[in-house]
Amino acid sequence: MTLPLGGNTPKGEPQRDEGAGIPLDWDELAQRIAAVAEGETDPIALMATIACEVHNADDRFDWTGFYRVVRPGHLKIGPYQGGHGCLDIPFDRGVCGAAARTGEAQLVPDVEAFPGHIACAASTRSELVLPVWDGDGRLIGVFDIDSDRPDAFTQADAEALADILKSSFSGVSARGAAA
Ligand code: SME
Repeated sequence: MTLPLGGNTPKGEPQRDEGAGIPLDWDELAQRIAAVAEGETDPIALMATIACEVHNADDRFDWTGFYRVVRPGHLKIGPYQGGHGCLDIPFDRGVCGAAARTGEAQLVPDVEAFPGHIACAASTRSELVLPVWDGDGRLIGVFDIDSDRPDAFTQADAEALADILKSSFSGVSARGAAA
């Protein structure tokens, strides 16, 4: 049986990297997300879809989700996959706060070496957090992937994810659906 959607893949079918070193095909994942989310401009629907598709694409990813900017300087939990995530993160705290504050991707190979890291799960060893902008260039949140493996993420992961986020959220606008 062939199913096009990673998030709908039944357990037992090979989909995630089971730690055997099979590299994630970011191009294929980007195409799948573009197809599933085509025409969608609701930010929460996009976040839920992206969190699901990315999380299920690779066994390096143990927590995958979004924090949303809900007021100046403050992030609140958004759609995610994995265990419990902390609900509130101010911009001056944690890896997520650093990504929101600086507008730059945070690739953290060792969370214990990152001052102010917020340990939502004690098992987390490394993280990748990217800022998320809407089509108007407004910061609407951050996308956080946590791994229980040390040094799980590469610069190539960060660049591929940034491209997916940019194209996925380009149609989101505070003024309503972008043309
Ligand atoms: N570790 C993050 C907090 C979010 S959770 O890990 C899901 C941080 O330091 O910002």
